[in-house]
Formats: sequence, C-alpha cells, structure tokens
Amino acid sequence: MSSGTFGITREKKIISSGARKVFTPHAPVDDISHFFGREEEASRFVSVINTDGLHVLVYGDRGVGKTSLAITTCRVLLQGIMKGGKYIEKRCDSSDTFESIALKVLQALEINHQNRETTQTTNEGGKASVKIPIVGAEVDSHRQSAVKILHQVNLSSPSWVAEQIQSKAGIFLIDEIDAVADKEDRKKLAELVKLLSDNKSQLKIVLVGIASTGADLTAGHPSIQRCLKEVHLKRMNDDDVRKIIHNGFKKIGQIPTEDVVKTITDISAGLPHFTHLICLKCAEASVISGNKHVGTDVLKAALNESVKDSENALKDSYTNCLHNFNKPHEYKIIVQGAAHCKGVEFRASDIQQQIKVFVKFDVDQKVVSRRLIAIAARADSIMEKCGRGYYRFVDPRMPSFVKMLHGADAQSAV
Ligand SMILES: Nc1ncnc2c1ncn2[C@@H]1O[C@H](COP(=O)(O)OP(=O)(O)OP(=O)(O)O)[C@@H](O)[C@H]1O
Ligand SMILES: [Mg+2]
Repeated sequence: MSSGTFGITREKKIISSGARKVFTPHAPVDDISHFFGREEEASRFVSVINTDGLHVLVYGDRGVGKTSLAITTCRVLLQGIMKGGKYIEKRCDSSDTFESIALKVLQALEINHQNRETTQTTNEGGKASVKIPIVGAEVDSHRQSAVKILHQVNLSSPSWVAEQIQSKAGIFLIDEIDAVADKEDRKKLAELVKLLSDNKSQLKIVLVGIASTGADLTAGHPSIQRCLKEVHLKRMNDDDVRKIIHNGFKKIGQIPTEDVVKTITDISAGLPHFTHLICLKCAEASVISGNKHVGTDVLKAALNESVKDSENALKDSYTNCLHNFNKPHEYKIIVQGAAHCKGVEFRASDIQQQIKVFVKFDVDQKVVSRRLIAIAARADSIMEKCGRGYYRFVDPRMPSFVKMLHGADAQSAV
C-alpha cells in the first residue's frame, strides 16, 4: 500500500510538512505570526482592557474569528503590558451556569471555594482577634469567649464572587457564552462585570459569543453598556483573506496560482474557517504529490475533501432541505445561484443573474421565485424570508459550503 498501513506514511509526510500548524480550520489562531488583519478591532480591544473599569465583549457571526481575536490579543497584552497577570480561559457549553463559570475563576486563582469555619475570640475588654485557622489562634487574655463563624461559599451570588476575585490581576476570557442557556446566568455574568468595574478591579473580563447584537449575550442587562465595551467582529476583508493564503503557503514552501487564490478568497466570503480548510486540503494534496505548485486541478480535489470535512450540521441541513423536493436538481441550482449572490440578502432576480453567470443556465425569474418561496416555506429550511421579496441563508456559512460543493461537483464532471 503506497500510503502505508492505515495511511501512516501519508500522514507522516503531511505532519513533517508543517501544513497542519499553518492551516488550522478547526482551531482558533493563538499566535500573532498566524494572525492577519483585524488591526482596528485588536487596537480597540487593547485600549479597552487598559482602561480602568472597562471590560470587553466580542460578538459576531459564527466562524468570523472571535476566539482568535480574543486569545491572540490577550496573549499580546499579557506578554506586553499586563506582565504578571493571570490568564484564565473558560469555554462554555449548554451545561454551564453562572456557578460553574465562577468556580472556574476561583479554582484558577486558587481561592478557597469550600465552606469553612473560623473562630472569633472576644477578650474581656471587648477586644476581638480573629485567627484562621483555629489552631493558630492567639489569645492575650485569660477570659475569652469563642464564636465560630461559618464562611459560606455563595457561588450563585455575583457580589460574593466579585468580592473574592476583585483584588486579583489578569484576564478571564469566557468564550461561547451564547451556549449558556439560561438568561438569568448571563445576566449574573453582566452583574459580575459591573461589580468588578465599580471596584476598578485589575481582573478584566472578556466575554465572547455568537450574536447579532451585544445585548443578546448579556440578556439585556440595563446598566452594563458603560463598563462593557463591545467589539463587533464582522467578516474579514478579501485582502486579509489573501494574506492568510499567501503567507500560509509561503511558510510551507508551496506556490498557489492566482486563480486558486481568487477562488479560495471568493468561497471564503470573509469567513477564515473556509480559507484554512481549503488551503489545508490543497497543501496536503501537494505534499503527497510532491509538486509545490498548487493549481486548479489540486484545488478541485481539495474542495471535494473540504466538503467531506465540513461540519455535519451544514451537510445535513443542506441535504435534508433539498432531498425532500420532487426535483432536487432544480432546487439545487436555485441554492447555488443564491450562494453566489454578493449581498447577504437577495431577491429572485439576483439569483436569476447568478445562475446565468455561474451555472450557465437561463431560467425564468417567475420559476426562481416559486422555487425560492417553496424552499423558504420548509420547516428547518436553509433559507428564510427577511423582507418583501428578500431572502437570506439561515446559517451565514451556508453560501461558502454550497460554493465548495459546486466546485467539487465541477470536479466530478471533469
Ligand atoms: N485573524 C485571523 N487570521 C488568520 N486566521 C484566522 C483569523 N481569525 C480566525 N482565523 C481562523 O478562522 C477559523 C475560525 O476562527 P475562530 O475559531 O476564532 O472563529 P469564531 O468566530 O470564534 O468561531 P465560532 O463562532 O465557531 O466560535 C479558525 O480556523 C482560525 O484559525
Ligand atoms: Mg469561537
């Protein structure tokens, strides 16, 4: 077997090429040398963190690069300005609550989070001295009364948590807060930020999550705007996407053609996950073939691999949506046309134009309109109506996925 048992020989070649260190579709960037663009957002982030009483909220669509911006900027900050500050990271999932998030920061800061008892001794003259623990108690009078005090941990109270952590310095990054299901928990997080801000704590909170407005992530807490500054991360611009492609291939000694760079940039549509995914598949194929030039033939095969490696959620919703129609091929063309539209929102006439250009097919606008209505009317559809005659994809990553699929289809036709 040329690729060795279970493809081990192939894997060894790819690993030693360094391609998977440079192109990381499934992991955020945490190293400044792999981080491109975002200058404006990163400087806003830095200046907010360095202002007393201010904390940061990074929000935007899925996969735009929120975690990468937050982690890379925090690293730079901790190495440069906030030397000695602690970095704590918490990735939330649907089982997380305010308590579990609070527990993470207390543990990381090595703050006691168990109920404990101390003894307060009162001397006859009324002078009190408290020693913790009890065995270390010092008494300067023969007559004394001892009172046991129970220090009760209250993880569900933002003010209790704030009291414990506010004297510390560092950054607490709380990622994927959109996954925290209960609004009350998100509200409490906002309250914690407010309390740390009021006390000018040097422990800065960075909240990160998928949302179209910052308020979605803080459950609309009314007085949070003053101390929690928002960084709305939009899609990357094409120049920065091209930088990811050129720099990445250069690092591993490969040379993509201009056509390849153009197609990857177009498919990415400002979502760097797709840039990394397609580049990685191209790089792997080139490493195996031993040809450092990455041309359109390599790209087409790479698109096929990229589709296979895409998130199941995207593949399933696309397949489920189309396969229930009588003539799925006709609907597929409508979806492809929609994926190629320039704006996020599109009309039947826009789709008709794109079908002409990309699918080389002349279709009546009324037919497009009827199909569009039928697609959007489906439960769990990939498209939705967003205004009179206007539609959009429910998942903003879907157009890139559809374009990859279209490119991979073109491959099978060759
Ligand atoms: N500024 C950047 N330069 C280069 N690559 C980037 C940049 N930002 C993000 N990426 C890449 O894009 C992909 C998505 O990034 P990231 O995980 O940070 O996005 P996200 O918005 O946090 O995604 P999610 O919504 O799924 O949490 C990753 O492959 C990451 O390596
Ligand atoms: Mg993320």
